[in-house]
Amino acid sequence: MSEKEKILSIQDLSVRFNLRGRVLHAIRGLSLDVYRGESLAIVGESGCGKSVLNKNLIGLLDNNGFIDGGSIRYYGLKKDTAHPELYGEDDNGVYADLTKFKKERDWLKIRGKEVCMILQDPMTSLNPLKTIGAQIAEAIRLHQGLRGRALKEAVLQIMRDVRIDDPERRYKQYPHEFSGGMRQRVVIAIAIACKPKILICDEPTTALDVTIQAQVLYLIKELKAKYNLTVIFITHDLGVVANIADRVAVMYAGDIVEIGMAEEIYYDPKHPYTWALLSSLPQLGVKGEDLFSIKGTPPNLFTEIHGDAFAARNQQALKIDFVERPPYFEVSPTHKAKTWLLDPRAPKVEPPRIIQKLKSEGGAVNE
Ligand SMILES: Nc1ncnc2c1ncn2[C@@H]1O[C@H](COP(=O)(O)OP(=O)(O)O)[C@@H](O)[C@H]1O
Ligand SMILES: [Mg+2]
Repeated sequence: MSEKEKILSIQDLSVRFNLRGRVLHAIRGLSLDVYRGESLAIVGESGCGKSVLNKNLIGLLDNNGFIDGGSIRYYGLKKDTAHPELYGEDDNGVYADLTKFKKERDWLKIRGKEVCMILQDPMTSLNPLKTIGAQIAEAIRLHQGLRGRALKEAVLQIMRDVRIDDPERRYKQYPHEFSGGMRQRVVIAIAIACKPKILICDEPTTALDVTIQAQVLYLIKELKAKYNLTVIFITHDLGVVANIADRVAVMYAGDIVEIGMAEEIYYDPKHPYTWALLSSLPQLGVKGEDLFSIKGTPPNLFTEIHGDAFAARNQQALKIDFVERPPYFEVSPTHKAKTWLLDPRAPKVEPPRIIQKLKSEGGAVNE
């Protein structure tokens, strides 16, 4: 991340769902800046709001969900003079406020061209009745306007880019003739064909076995450089992203509780939840001992949470953790965490031994 130009700025976002007469608070006042050209990992347990957060960036929030506060500024669209109410300008330039996008017509400006999302299960994004070649071609035709011979050449090239061997032959095959890993490559090819600025990968490797997972991660890294992408990588596994993330955001109960450069999160984590996540990585396990697992369950999002959402599961929680929600405390210009432990008045609480060792041993996850 050489330059630090914001491409996206989420401010105090709140998202709720109506569910059988009750209201669930899925995103609770979350703020996040994303920088052009970076690779940002968003990590947290299942149900913490990773997918909901990112669905807001492409207008795919479920129908029973609604935004009831905050803004999402996307920098990079030209102001559409027919719809000035969707745009604004700040120090960083002209932005589109995605929380104001309601109509499909508006979202077509963003989805695909600006922001593209690939999901865990490639089968949900592929049409089983169409050949792989036809599906990639459709995306290229739509976004690059190519036809005939030039279109076919572009499809073959993109298949090579995502490292699908023998593209001339595989072009004519159907999704069921592809393995899980290869299907994910096809989905990535379709995403890339739209020439997006931001590529969101929502647990794209969770359904794959470890070797294939590593290959897909490597591919995403390669494509990011080749196509100048900004990558948002969502995962529940902090161990997966060490190699590809410049920055890591740790999410808990609908908020980002800690964010920093990958080294800062892996070597010098500050939030007790990040400690717990790191401690449960198999890479940190000691042979013959049980792996650490986080006790308890995440809080109920149907009732308003007071204080630090992780307090109930944190054995070293302070009194104030149950009363008042912590603000961000700055650890370095690139690292901050929402924990009262960083308040100068807080008693000194040592991180678990396994975490203290990280600093001296050079991080939880080896390159
Ligand atoms: N359509 C919906 N209706 C009600 N609750 C939802 C809906 N979609 C997601 N949620 C809830 O929002 C929370 C965050 O979900 P999600 O973003 O999918 O988690 P993650 O992707 O981190 O696993 C969860 O409590 C989930 O049950
Ligand atoms: Mg999810």
